[in-house]
Amino acid sequence: MGCASIAEINADIWHLSSINAETVLQGYGTVQINRSVDKNSMQVGGVVFENGVGTHADSIIVLDLDGNAEFVWGKVGVDDEVKAGRGSVKFKIINADDETLLWESSSMTSGMNAEAFKVKLNNIKKLYLIVTDDGDGIACDHADWLDVKIQYNGNPPQSVSCNMNVETKHVQWRFFGVPGSKLRQTGMGKASNGDIEALITFPHRDETSFLMSPNLKIMQGDGSYNLELIFEGAKIDRLSDNVTQYVYRLEDPVYHITVNLIVTAYREEDVFTSQIQIVNNGDTGIVVLDRDSAFVALPAEPVYITSFNGNGANEFTGITEDKMPRGIVRHQVAGTDRTAVPDYPGVFLSFGIPAQEDKGMVFAAAIAWSGSWQYQITRLPDERIFFSGGVLEDPIKLYPGQTYISPEVVMTWSDNGKGQATRNFHRYMRHYGIPNGYAERPVVFNSWQGVLFDFDEEKILRMMDGAAAVGAEIFVLDDGWFGNEYPRNSDSAGLGDWQVNTKKLPGGIENLIREAHQRGLKFGLWVEPEMVNPASNLYKAHPEWVMMIPGRKTFSGRNQYLLDLSRAEVEEFVFQAVSNILRSNPGIDYIKWDHNGYGMNPGAAHLGDNQGALSDKHNQAYYRIMDRLRKTYPHVMFQLCASGGCRIDFGAMKYHEEFWASDETNGILRIPIQWGISHFMPANTMASHINMYGDGDFKLRADVAMTGRLGIELNPELLDENDIKSIKQGVVAYKELRPLLHSADLYRGRSPFDSKITEYTFVSPDKTGAVFFVFKSNVGAVSEIIKMKGLNSDFNYSLTEINADEKPRFEPTVLSGRELMEKGIKFEFPDKESSVVVMVRRSII
Ligand code: DGJ
Repeated sequence: MGCASIAEINADIWHLSSINAETVLQGYGTVQINRSVDKNSMQVGGVVFENGVGTHADSIIVLDLDGNAEFVWGKVGVDDEVKAGRGSVKFKIINADDETLLWESSSMTSGMNAEAFKVKLNNIKKLYLIVTDDGDGIACDHADWLDVKIQYNGNPPQSVSCNMNVETKHVQWRFFGVPGSKLRQTGMGKASNGDIEALITFPHRDETSFLMSPNLKIMQGDGSYNLELIFEGAKIDRLSDNVTQYVYRLEDPVYHITVNLIVTAYREEDVFTSQIQIVNNGDTGIVVLDRDSAFVALPAEPVYITSFNGNGANEFTGITEDKMPRGIVRHQVAGTDRTAVPDYPGVFLSFGIPAQEDKGMVFAAAIAWSGSWQYQITRLPDERIFFSGGVLEDPIKLYPGQTYISPEVVMTWSDNGKGQATRNFHRYMRHYGIPNGYAERPVVFNSWQGVLFDFDEEKILRMMDGAAAVGAEIFVLDDGWFGNEYPRNSDSAGLGDWQVNTKKLPGGIENLIREAHQRGLKFGLWVEPEMVNPASNLYKAHPEWVMMIPGRKTFSGRNQYLLDLSRAEVEEFVFQAVSNILRSNPGIDYIKWDHNGYGMNPGAAHLGDNQGALSDKHNQAYYRIMDRLRKTYPHVMFQLCASGGCRIDFGAMKYHEEFWASDETNGILRIPIQWGISHFMPANTMASHINMYGDGDFKLRADVAMTGRLGIELNPELLDENDIKSIKQGVVAYKELRPLLHSADLYRGRSPFDSKITEYTFVSPDKTGAVFFVFKSNVGAVSEIIKMKGLNSDFNYSLTEINADEKPRFEPTVLSGRELMEKGIKFEFPDKESSVVVMVRRSII
């Protein structure tokens, strides 16, 4: 066949059957030369054709004509190998130079006679031959190009590849395009039913702007919003065996703007990140408005949107699932510096059916940004679905030569429900999204809920004794240790004055570190360096460092103001404040970085008429500070805290090993909070502390804490011997389970939102071990069949109860993975809130 294709090229007639088959993109199978897609002889409307190309919708053939071609002609039709009446398609011939439609067939199905065409091609450089599904889904669309010829002068036409797909192990995000034309995408996950030529990389104000709201909107120097992006080429970098980065360069030749779409694929995790870079190469300033980091075409199916909202002390407890209406659904948080409340910058979309844990197509995304954000789901009248997201569109100025780079949006696709999407995120986070994702996390003892601001050195040393006695590995001194002229004895003074309070702690931090070490504990310290109390030396010296608009009253949450990190001197101050503490106390191994207010009535005089850049500049400065601190003090762990979990986003987490999930620490009330967070964040990032608030026993509190990074936060002096025994036992159990829990795949079972029972199975990647947790709410005694998940059906497993109550819940036993997952086992639960933890080990018996 290969020889035949060369022989068939006449002096000035070129046959489509001489194309290089590898260059063709199509929805099913591979392109066939002189055969139908199912490799039969080509037959349309009962007529056999010797010569042609058999494809399947959606398909695209790109021909490089170099301006040498005069005519293309031939016939098209659906092959008779498909049952008559099936396979509805349209054939299209498009001038790729300006994307004009040169010819379009009627809607064709099998059994119809071949349709003839002849099209003039004067000076066209690139040509698309496209077949699209015509409304009945991409099935049986066996589309034949028959006897297609091109008359040319000079060099013959050549078929060129336009495949620009980005791939992970199980997922494709499909792009196509040839330099000099538009970059297109046909979507992520399951093949899209949309017209292949109508899906652009991301909508902007060009000739397709009628399609939907723009994801990239720029006001040019002349006041116009027009932008026309031509694909100039792609650069592909293999960053490692697992990570490949694709940079698609798009240029506006009139306004001299370059837009780079940067997509990074994490193969094993099935995760893509997307961001854009805008370069102003022109000689006038522009204003960048909408600047989404990602725009993704998704399957044209009914969509269910799972969104997450909450507030300080009940973070993530508002999980709602809404059926997508026609139009646009938009979620956002404005403001400058708090991302995770009241709405979360992450979403799960389920296609066809409401989201299930273990089955169904799910797309999930999270915006890696700690300032204002938005995401949108768009459903067009023709049922096409798109996701887009990034920062909020506050206008920012970009002067000639300047570059803007957006944050990343992190996305994954699952064919196995929400659970798989979660596991993809968790693996991505541990490998790439947090520092030291696989290093062992210490058991933290934190002083806050035990003593609040009310302590002195003696009290802290007694607390350290208690911490060591229950098995903690690091003691963290929380708020209240600093400020002399304005002592930090309440939340109304001291923030900004990062000197130790010598009255409370005469031996300084140094002595506390020594004392901690003597008890076998490491030492950590609380800071809140992005904030200032009006009652502080810092504020008296620099009132202008507060983020505010001159003349406008600035409100403050918790008696404090947000410092304006967009000012270089403030950025430097914050870095130095923390750096001084760490430099002069090299024994500090852990910093709890808190953030209890937010920029209200925000503004920054020094930004002049570029106020829209404030959130960007402020948060980029926060990232730079963290980056410098991490590089200067690589041994220090940084916990992220913002009145609990108000800033748990994928952007901030690049600089923090863990976060304080919530100030709600009552065991049973923590369960729904941690359930919500578990959709995005792995267990080792989620600080979860045993404390004394509310009802419930210490066993249950310890078991809840084990599903995150366990810690303790109470006053040991208020505990009796039994309590101490119970906490100690929980800590011992956790230390045994920790290596598995913090590298495991999480399988969620029944949810605390719609059941009295909550179930988690943490399974080791090789499925030889698992830890199973069940929590029962306070609803009276029940006996329940409990099924595990994620095990290997063919393995046998031995089951042992861990951290058991006085009365163990079941006898050790050996069962197969199949039995545990399909039949389950029966647990008796007492008439109170209760929990069971089961160690599941592969047994060779
Ligand atoms: C809010 C945090 O969530 C608490 O854990 C504690 O650190 C306080 N701030 C201290 O002011």
